[in-house]
Amino acid sequence: MSLLSKNYHIITYGCQMNEHDSENIAGMLEALDYSHTPNPEEADVVVMNTCSVREHADKRFFGMLGQFKKQKKNNPDFIICVCGCMPQQPHIVEEIRKSFSWVDIVFGTQTIAEFPNLLMERIRTGKKQFSIIANNEEIPEEKESKREFKHKALVNITYGCNNFCTYCIVPYTRGREKSRSLRAVKQEIINLVKDGVKEVMLLGQNVNSFRDADGNNFAALIRSLDEVEGLERIRFMTSHPKDLSDELIACFGDCKKLCHNIHLPVQSGSDEVLRRMNRHYNRQRYMEIVEKLRATCPDLSISTDIIVGFPGETEEDFLDTLSLVREVEYDSAFTFIYSPRVGTPAAKYDDQIPEKIKHDRFDRLVEDVNRCSAKKNSEYLGRIVTVLVDGPSKNDTGAWSGRTDTFKLVNFTSEEPLTEGQMVSVRITETKTFSLDGEKVDA
Ligand code: 5AD
Ligand code: SF4
Repeated sequence: MSLLSKNYHIITYGCQMNEHDSENIAGMLEALDYSHTPNPEEADVVVMNTCSVREHADKRFFGMLGQFKKQKKNNPDFIICVCGCMPQQPHIVEEIRKSFSWVDIVFGTQTIAEFPNLLMERIRTGKKQFSIIANNEEIPEEKESKREFKHKALVNITYGCNNFCTYCIVPYTRGREKSRSLRAVKQEIINLVKDGVKEVMLLGQNVNSFRDADGNNFAALIRSLDEVEGLERIRFMTSHPKDLSDELIACFGDCKKLCHNIHLPVQSGSDEVLRRMNRHYNRQRYMEIVEKLRATCPDLSISTDIIVGFPGETEEDFLDTLSLVREVEYDSAFTFIYSPRVGTPAAKYDDQIPEKIKHDRFDRLVEDVNRCSAKKNSEYLGRIVTVLVDGPSKNDTGAWSGRTDTFKLVNFTSEEPLTEGQMVSVRITETKTFSLDGEKVDA
């Protein structure tokens, strides 16, 4: 059967790991001569790459899946695939089998490489295909992916997670932690740079515990990547505070390409909540890390993740979180309302917090976090910063947008046309809560 002139569309939920998996899946489809279409209704194959981290993502997914029933009815050759974290949970697969009979292909995070075979089998036999295993021991080989940007790339360095924070589903959906080899990561990045990439984002659930079979740790990886000629910026996420080493902190002082930005999820400012979350650090230890990082790299920007309404969280615990936000002065924070996830220990705790209290705490937290972000951004007024151009600004035609080394989003004007991937100097003329405005100046 000819696959020529067939279209695909991918819908991605969740984190950057999923985004990168979607880039890989797009690469597989293009290798089979499928072309991307931005319109799911024109697609012959739709892939829904799902997230399980919070209940909200589940609901959105099932809502969206329902919409494809009609498309399937109108076109029996239309193929709908579900992948990512949700199918790693047996009760979800059961629900798909029972209530979403129009789904053709289901695969999980551990069997992405199987996708082309599953698709071919589905087309050849007309039969539904399911491929889910709990934990694949093998380290996936990175194949040609279809990247969203030409000038920046997501690069996996570790897969899976061994930490079992009591609220989190990820260790159950992404399997055990595995590190790629320093050699493989570096070679991939050398190839990306040849292809025009200036910035890489190293990805892992906990990049700090990277350790390859030759014994190289995360700091060794950063130092080695800092030598790659033509590469301009190195970023990474996510960083678990319990494994953040002094060696890595030293990299912020020594490695020229390492961006002055860190995402360091704290989750809570209360020692008791941190203990019950199984985070393996307390507030004092976290603050020591922040102080060391700032002593080494004074203009470091710091972002975080915070959960409110974890089971048993008292008003006093919550006030500890608010005071921590003020003490650290985060540049930004992703704030989440605790969402019980089936199969995690915290979902069974009997001291769940009423929705109204969770929402009230969430609103108070967001107010404080935004105040902090606005204050941090205001320090940029009048400064000249280097921006890696991402392209035309999303909200202002004629303006451009890009990121500083410290990950600040900058929207700016330029008298001459620019191209994505250019490094330009921008004077900051106005600061907002979530972005900076400016004008391009000559370097
Ligand atoms: N409820 C709310 N937030 C959660 N996160 C992970 N699991 C949950 C949950 N069950 C948040 C954490 C994590 C981020 C990616 O998502 O803050 O760092
Ligand atoms: Fe989830 Fe904790 Fe692993 Fe992060 S470190 S993915 S929060 S279990």
